[in-house]
Amino acid sequence: MVFSVFMCFLMSLLLGGVLSISGSSEISFNNNYSVTWGNDHVLSSNNGSQVQLSLDISSGSGFGSKMRYGSGFFHMRIKLPDRNSAGVVTAFYMTSQGHRHDELDCEFLGNKEGKPYTLQTNVYTQGQGDREQRLHLWFDPTTDFHDYRILWNQHQIVFYVDNIPIRVFKNNTNNGVGYLSQPMQLQASLWNADSWATDGGQTKTNWSYAPFKAYFQGFDISGCSRS
Ligand SMILES: *[C@@H]1O[C@H](CO)[C@@H](O)[C@H](O)[C@H]1NC(C)=O
Ligand SMILES: *[C@@H]1O[C@H](CO)[C@@H](O)[C@H](O)[C@H]1NC(C)=O
Ligand SMILES: *[C@@H]1O[C@H](CO)[C@@H](O)[C@H](O)[C@H]1NC(C)=O
Ligand SMILES: *[C@@H]1O[C@H](CO)[C@@H](O)[C@H](O)[C@H]1NC(C)=O
Repeated sequence: MVFSVFMCFLMSLLLGGVLSISGSSEISFNNNYSVTWGNDHVLSSNNGSQVQLSLDISSGSGFGSKMRYGSGFFHMRIKLPDRNSAGVVTAFYMTSQGHRHDELDCEFLGNKEGKPYTLQTNVYTQGQGDREQRLHLWFDPTTDFHDYRILWNQHQIVFYVDNIPIRVFKNNTNNGVGYLSQPMQLQASLWNADSWATDGGQTKTNWSYAPFKAYFQGFDISGCSRS
């Protein structure tokens, strides 16, 4: 909390936005998130402590934070679609709005049964991406929930898988590299991306495995809200 107060203080000095401090204790799916698309493909259970997104040939689905943030630590526990999930992408990401937007992506690229999931991360600053990095998850992400986190402060962005930092993007504005500065919302979605996601788009979604289902828990945000 002290860290978060400090960050909000710094961000308010730097950016002059409207800020308030939000601890993670009061976060709940029902209060802090809303469905963004595919309403009838979103199922929340246990009083909002778990959310299931599904994808079939008619629609995918997604949800996002109601508030926008200027920095913070964002956490989701996710269990990915099992069996043959080729062509299917589960995404956990942050994005600002508008044309030259900022975005931080964790995209889980489905695969044929028995083949590893790929986690693709990307960083957009002012609409400029092309910073994809890929790794194979070292566990089966379909049998259990695992922790995925994004840390974003004025110094760096860090992506974590089960508390292991897998990528760092430093604030290198001193060297002329753009950095994320626009208020972003946290989002999650499940969608068909078989034009590119698996084997470069050669392996298509097999709809006989639909509906595909991804499960989410946690929803923690220790962030500075910013409008
Ligand atoms: C969660 O929602 C509550 C109630 O609207 C709000 O007071 C709180 O600031 C929100 N927290 C975050 C981190 O957005
Ligand atoms: C359901 O969650 C809300 C907050 O999200 C909480 O205030 C309420 O007490 C919970 N109800 C039950 C039955 O646990
Ligand atoms: C990035 O770092 C520079 C100092 O190196 C700082 O002035 C700037 O505000 C930082 N950017 C953000 C968005 O925090
Ligand atoms: C889709 O999966 C079904 C069930 O495993 C299989 O019979 C069928 O051949 C698959 N379709 C394609 C195009 O691979």
